[in-house]
Amino acid sequence: MNKYVSPILEEIRNSPVEDALKQAHDYSLDYLKNLENMPVYPKPSDIDNLSVFDEDMPTAPASTKEILDLLGTYGSKATVAQTGGRYFGFVVGGNLPAVLSSRWLSDTWDQNSAMYVHSPIASKLESICEKWLVELLGFPEDTAVGLVTGSSLAIMCGLAAGRNKLLSNLGWDVAADGLFGAPQLKVVVSEEAHSTDMKMLSVLGLGQNTVTKIPTDYNGAMRMDLLPELDNRTLLILQAGNLHSGAFDDFTVACMKAKKAGAWVHVDGAIGLWAAANDNMNHLTDGLALADSWNTDGHKTLNTAYDIGIVFCKDRKALVNAMHMTGDYIILSDDRDNMMYTPEMSRRARGIDIWAVLKSLGKNGVNQLVEELHQKAAYFSEELSKNGFEILNEVVFNQISLVWKNNKSTEALAKKLQSSGVMWLGGSKWKGRNIIRISVSGYKTTYNDIDLCVKEFIRCAK
Ligand SMILES: Cc1ncc(COP(=O)(O)O)c(C=O)c1O
Repeated sequence: MNKYVSPILEEIRNSPVEDALKQAHDYSLDYLKNLENMPVYPKPSDIDNLSVFDEDMPTAPASTKEILDLLGTYGSKATVAQTGGRYFGFVVGGNLPAVLSSRWLSDTWDQNSAMYVHSPIASKLESICEKWLVELLGFPEDTAVGLVTGSSLAIMCGLAAGRNKLLSNLGWDVAADGLFGAPQLKVVVSEEAHSTDMKMLSVLGLGQNTVTKIPTDYNGAMRMDLLPELDNRTLLILQAGNLHSGAFDDFTVACMKAKKAGAWVHVDGAIGLWAAANDNMNHLTDGLALADSWNTDGHKTLNTAYDIGIVFCKDRKALVNAMHMTGDYIILSDDRDNMMYTPEMSRRARGIDIWAVLKSLGKNGVNQLVEELHQKAAYFSEELSKNGFEILNEVVFNQISLVWKNNKSTEALAKKLQSSGVMWLGGSKWKGRNIIRISVSGYKTTYNDIDLCVKEFIRCAK
């Protein structure tokens, strides 16, 4: 019997992993030390230097040291300082120390978290996260939680549970028989629903063209006076945190109507679900618990690292039925088998990160994190407004949409700010106008950061 041993693997096995981890640790600490001084968006020369990565797939192996040197020297400089205090683009939260450091450890564990039998710790912490999150956000007691990559997939899970449940109520088993010949469902969304909601309707075979879109009010909330008749074939999608304004739909009115009709309500709370955990803003989420499913992210407002999306489903069986799979080699347990709640089977143990952030902040910390993000967004918008920038939205949460004079000058200003290195923020179109979007999502942002950014707005506008 030829007992083959790969020379390459033998060398890897014989190289001390401690050296590699120490090197990664040193590069990481350097990065963090330099974070607030580096340009928020990388300099063109540092982006050009990424050409060092352009090579044909190498035949011979490289040492871990060489790999880390490439990443540490060239990679770090071409990152966007998303975890620093002056990144306001899209909706990108920071990376709280408890998450960053426990992820270092859990990456070392490298647990597959599909089933209990894979990893008791991953299963244990995910069931604790389920309990804590449901309590924190005030959802009904047996609400199920699934941990996925982000809100996109969490929306898909919630809508899949809703689609299957509505069809099952109509005597159709979509999991077994698919959508061919199934009773027709209706979908009702806000005209300002996030494009991910629309994408997931396509993925789920519900299409986009037949969707009923409801107009919004001045701040982007769904006009409840225009909500059509709902019935037991309707999937209604609401929003907690409009992408441009942070606005919240009126959950009480919509859910009461949906409940009477037997419709399914999903709430896209990618940004704003956390308002439910804040003493001063939880009025925005009145009636939220009357919905059937919800999604949010860890990596936005909660300031966890990527990739953490969370789906909640009031009807545990509906989520499990939509995500369930079996196989002769599958070993299910009496404890939590995480894959029952998500489309993936094998995946990283996201529950460890969420447990760490919730444990590190506590209820009081989550309350204060949400409060700070809101207060800082309010301050930012006031300062900009005082200096002549036109704020288009009512800043009810952490989003600001603003214009500078007209479409053209707004667009030009956005470009200048993006290349300033002082901050990064995005542009968009809202209510027919070109806007600059500011999302105050990172825990590192200070009032000094905001003052510095306001000065830069004034400088660039001139
Ligand atoms: C309201 C809303 N829904 C869904 C998403 C998609 O979330 P993710 O990027 O985590 O998939 C976003 C992203 O910003 C969002 O703002």
